[in-house]
Amino acid sequence: MPDKRKFKAMIIKEEDGKFFRHIGEKTVDELPLGDVLIRVLYSSLNYKDALSAAGNKGVTRRYPHTPGIDAAGIVEESTVEQIKPGEKVLVTGFDLGMNTSGGFGQYIRVPSEWIVGLPEGLSLKESMIYGTAGFTAGLSLLRLEYMGLEPSDDEILVTGATGGVGSLAVAILSNAGYKVTAATGKADKENYLRTLGARIILDRKDVDNPTGKALQPPRWGGVIDSVGGNILATALKQTKYNCSVAACGLTQSPLINTWVYPFILRGVNLLGIDSAHCSIETRLEVWNNLAGKWKSLTLDLIKHECVLEELSEKIDLILQGKITGRVVVNMEK
Ligand SMILES: NC(=O)c1ccc[n+]([C@@H]2O[C@H](COP(=O)([O-])OP(=O)(O)OC[C@H]3O[C@@H](n4cnc5c(N)ncnc54)[C@H](OP(=O)(O)O)[C@@H]3O)[C@@H](O)[C@H]2O)c1
Repeated sequence: MPDKRKFKAMIIKEEDGKFFRHIGEKTVDELPLGDVLIRVLYSSLNYKDALSAAGNKGVTRRYPHTPGIDAAGIVEESTVEQIKPGEKVLVTGFDLGMNTSGGFGQYIRVPSEWIVGLPEGLSLKESMIYGTAGFTAGLSLLRLEYMGLEPSDDEILVTGATGGVGSLAVAILSNAGYKVTAATGKADKENYLRTLGARIILDRKDVDNPTGKALQPPRWGGVIDSVGGNILATALKQTKYNCSVAACGLTQSPLINTWVYPFILRGVNLLGIDSAHCSIETRLEVWNNLAGKWKSLTLDLIKHECVLEELSEKIDLILQGKITGRVVVNMEK
């Protein structure tokens, strides 16, 4: 007996090499096979979703498609013992929203291995204020701490600081006792960054050194970089002896042109951060920290809530680098 349940979703269609978005209807039958059917109550917008919505085939190969790499909601059906209907859960990363129908639809069906139970201390909405962006900021901090980082007088640089990853990196680092220096291209967001806990605010140009010098005076005790390009190359040259740079993004550029000197003369570590496929043990550690000792009191300030019908305009803005904080999508309305 076919399942007739219909639900609302953003659908991206490809016609003659062009991509169009609309809010349409899908049925649960159209979802891919999987262990667990989840009714999505909240999703959130990440840069990768915007790439998928814009037709980037490096993110999504096949269209029509529903993006949304983040989803939080309630289990409706489950074929596995350990996950029960009625449980609150969240999914970030893996293939969700890439080539698997994603969180910009009111239902998703996914393998049980992709699912994390909502950690105690977080609401479904809060979990999506974090979403992949917050998880990535948290994973970056976890990796920096594995490398020996601990709160001190050293400055920790966060680039792309008003973006999703950047805002949450500033918030959780300062919450965890670090002295944060935030670099931004948005001169009017100084108050916002100070409220999140940044001690020093720099113009993006100040961390984008054009000289091409191999090394510069060491300044950073650690870096969370979400922009890549020459800003990442500059950060490497300015990082202190034996300290680490967590590289997680590419909004300036996916290319870095750097010298080996920061690595071989200063022992600098370049840490690659991949939030999509990290192990379940690491996932649980990051989520428990985000719900507990790192939990930011400024989550509400970072969030802009919208409904599915308002999402298209936000997608255009994030592609232009104009979003501050995190867009959370209320999927019930
Ligand atoms: N590795 C992973 O697992 C992972 C997970 C999540 C995201 N990411 C990546 O991380 C990056 C940020 O994602 P997001 O969701 O935080 O995006 P976002 O909200 O759009 O934030 C990106 C920020 O980068 C800055 N920026 C924009 N254009 C720039 C440019 N041309 N040069 C320098 N800075 C620029 C802006 O901040 P300011 O105006 O404050 O400078 C912008 O707000 C993306 O590349 C995304 O793909 C990776």
